[in-house]
Amino acid sequence: MTVRSELASAISALPSNTIHQEFVSQDEFFAMKNFIPQSIVERICDEFAKLRPKINRNYIPKHKKGGSVSRFTLEKYSPTIKEIYETPEFFDFLNNLVGGDLQDCPPEDPHAYALYCYTEPGDHIGFHYDTSYYKGRRYTILIGIIDNSSCKLEYDLFTKNPQKETTTHSTSLDPGDLVFFNGDNLYHRVTPLGEGEERIALTLEYVTDQSMGWFPRFVSNMKDSIAYFGFKNVFLGKKGTTQ
Ligand SMILES: [Fe+2]
Repeated sequence: MTVRSELASAISALPSNTIHQEFVSQDEFFAMKNFIPQSIVERICDEFAKLRPKINRNYIPKHKKGGSVSRFTLEKYSPTIKEIYETPEFFDFLNNLVGGDLQDCPPEDPHAYALYCYTEPGDHIGFHYDTSYYKGRRYTILIGIIDNSSCKLEYDLFTKNPQKETTTHSTSLDPGDLVFFNGDNLYHRVTPLGEGEERIALTLEYVTDQSMGWFPRFVSNMKDSIAYFGFKNVFLGKKGTTQ
C-alpha cells in the first residue's frame, strides 16, 4: 500500500462529525491518539535515520532549545513526510474541519513540514502561540514519531475566548498521535527532555491565505533562521540544504 492509500483508509474510518464538533467546541483544537498508522510512522523512522546528521540545533535562552529539520531538507530525504503533506484525503479532512478555505503553505515556507528533534537533556520550548504571519489563519499539526521521553505537550484552551474559562491540559505525543489547532488560539509548550531520552515530532502547517506582507515575512524568516533552521536553510531554501 502507498502512504496515501493507507492514510486515506485510516481517515475514512474516523467519526468525522464527532471530530468536527470537538474541533469547533475547543476553539479549533482537537487531539487523537494513533491517528497516523504505525506502518507510516515506521517509514518516517527509517528515513529519519539518514536525517540525523542534518539536524539544525538552536538555543534561545529561557525560551527554547532543540533541533529542527526543515521542509527543504525533508523534501529531499523523506518522501513519506512529503506524501503525507500532499495526500488529498488528508487535506480534505482538515479543510472540512476549518470551514473550507485551507491552502498549502507557499513553497518557500521552511515550516510547511518539519521535524522537531529533542535529543539532548533540557530540550524544550516555552509557552507560546504559533502566531500567523500570513494574512489569514495558520494551522499547526503535530504528529508523534519517536517518543522515549517524559516530555509533555501542555496547552491552555480558550485563553482568547471571553465566553469561556481557560482550561489547562497535558498530553504525551506517542508515535502516531496527532494534534491539530489554530496557531493563534492555542497557548502551548513542551516540557524539558530528561537524561537519556529522545522525542521526535513532525509538524505540518497549512494556511488560509498564502500572502504575507514584507515586514511579517522578514520577522517570520528571522524567527525561522534563529529559532529553527539556520539562515542558510531559510534564505537559500533548497539551495541552502546540506547534501
Ligand atoms: Fe508551537
